[in-house]
Amino acid sequence: MKAIEIRNKYINFFKNHNHAVIPSAPLIPENDPSVLFTTAGMQPLVPYLLGQKHPEGTRLTDFQKCVRTNDIDEVGDNRHLTYFEMLGNWSLGDYFKKESIAMSYEFLTKELGIPNEKISVTCFAGDDDCARDTVAEECWKKAGIPEDRIFFFGKDNNWWIAGEEGPCGPDTEMFYDTGKPKCSPECDPSCDCGKYVEIWNNVFMEFYKDKNGYRKLEQQNVDTGLGLERMAMLLQGKETPFDIELFEPVMKKLEELQKVDNIQSRRIVAEHLRSSIMIINDGGRPSNVDRGYILRRLLRRMTRHLNKLEIDLNNLPEIIDISIDSSKELYPELLNSKDTIKQVIIEEKNKFIKTLKNGEKEFEKVANKAKAAGEKVIAAEVVFNLYETYGFPPEMTEELAREQNLKVDMKNYQKLFEEHQAKSRLGSEAKFKGGLASTGEMETKYHTATHLLNAALKVVLGDHVHQKGSNITAERMRFDFSHGAKMTDEEKQKVEDLVNEYIRQDIKVEKLEMKKEDAINMGAEAMFLDKYGDTVTVYKIGDVSLELCGGPHVESTGKLGTFKIKKEEASSSGVRRIKAILE
Ligand code: SER
Repeated sequence: MKAIEIRNKYINFFKNHNHAVIPSAPLIPENDPSVLFTTAGMQPLVPYLLGQKHPEGTRLTDFQKCVRTNDIDEVGDNRHLTYFEMLGNWSLGDYFKKESIAMSYEFLTKELGIPNEKISVTCFAGDDDCARDTVAEECWKKAGIPEDRIFFFGKDNNWWIAGEEGPCGPDTEMFYDTGKPKCSPECDPSCDCGKYVEIWNNVFMEFYKDKNGYRKLEQQNVDTGLGLERMAMLLQGKETPFDIELFEPVMKKLEELQKVDNIQSRRIVAEHLRSSIMIINDGGRPSNVDRGYILRRLLRRMTRHLNKLEIDLNNLPEIIDISIDSSKELYPELLNSKDTIKQVIIEEKNKFIKTLKNGEKEFEKVANKAKAAGEKVIAAEVVFNLYETYGFPPEMTEELAREQNLKVDMKNYQKLFEEHQAKSRLGSEAKFKGGLASTGEMETKYHTATHLLNAALKVVLGDHVHQKGSNITAERMRFDFSHGAKMTDEEKQKVEDLVNEYIRQDIKVEKLEMKKEDAINMGAEAMFLDKYGDTVTVYKIGDVSLELCGGPHVESTGKLGTFKIKKEEASSSGVRRIKAILE
């Protein structure tokens, strides 16, 4: 069964059970700066789960576009996706466990034709906050699921909440038994060996969690979510989502075009391309902060893996066409934004290619030197320098080396990398104290100017630029950053102009508190990462800059005056130093 048929069946089924069909909310949440993307169908419905009246009534259904970014690095294996579609149905204080479970069972067995014996379910085992879910258990038995296929687990498995605070509750999850043998006698639906695949999650949302613990909501809600791609994969008897009609044509094209075979790379390209298409279609654009940074990361990783497959990048427009074509039945709106999507992706690819090219050029020098000296191995220090100064990924250095019959000392590279991290931790603690020592009015301005300079350098020189040090007095600022070459006069002028442009725009400087992990996921710049605890202060300057920082800062950039670069010089190997003033 194709994904579109599953979706249509789902929506019709719940429509026939008196649910109003509501449209998918955009991937980029409206009026909710606390999250980067819509991550679940319930997210746009939170006010209604909390009791506000929904104009469409108390029974709702939809298909929701979702992006979850916590697993980006896992994409490439046989199951993780960044973008996915979630089918959902909701009871806003209307039906509860009995009807919800009966409808789910009917849909799975009658509409999708999944045999009873393929289905296992899990229920909440109970704890101090909430009793064991014997009601759900009884409902499953009544539906026809035998006791030995009903499992109980604690909050780790059978409790659902989006983040730390919000509406939540025990859930019951449905699993599809792929028929593979158990990996051990204890193997059950909580095991991820691949025998049991989760297909649907019904959350009985009758609690609210905040800092003080759990309290009961005024109404008993049901929130369910069914992953479309995964269901299509199972019903089509495929091993991975990359084998279904939404990915298969791109996967095939990549295989055709590739000069080097690598299934992980093909999956990464196909997945990141589709996710990027969906994000761009909903208005996302690459940048260095927030959602824009996630999109940038997706597109860069895609480009890198296209390179890894040795696919000529001139084929990218055609690959984009194929991806859009595979998704057009589900999202006809893609056809209208096709040109924009292509333009954004190709522009970003072109930008990144420059970083790649710089790294490659530098590598060429290094390789020639090694060969001239009769060496067969590229030293760990060299690999490290390429990474630190040019943002050139070590595995790419390794790959280029391979082509020239050279080896790379990856073992010592790893050691160097770890040593460096430990060292910069120590160093940054000392510098951190120094940096915050005095905070008069001028120093405060220089603090903010430092963030603007850091951002401008990235724009002009590239994303390999990171802060390596900073020193501020009431008279001037000094800023050290990773960059491999002397800046040209033109580059210096551009940076200066850009900082002054940011000042002219008088952008608000916002202080945000967030979890360190979230800050990193949002792409925040962080020199003193290890210095901070789990909750960090982040300063956000519009779309220009996002940095972990203790402050203090001015309220808006307009207060800074005129920024002037006085000197640009080498600080140490691969590190440049700028001295600048505000007038
Ligand atoms: N909110 C639940 C989930 O995301 C059910 O929709 O799994």
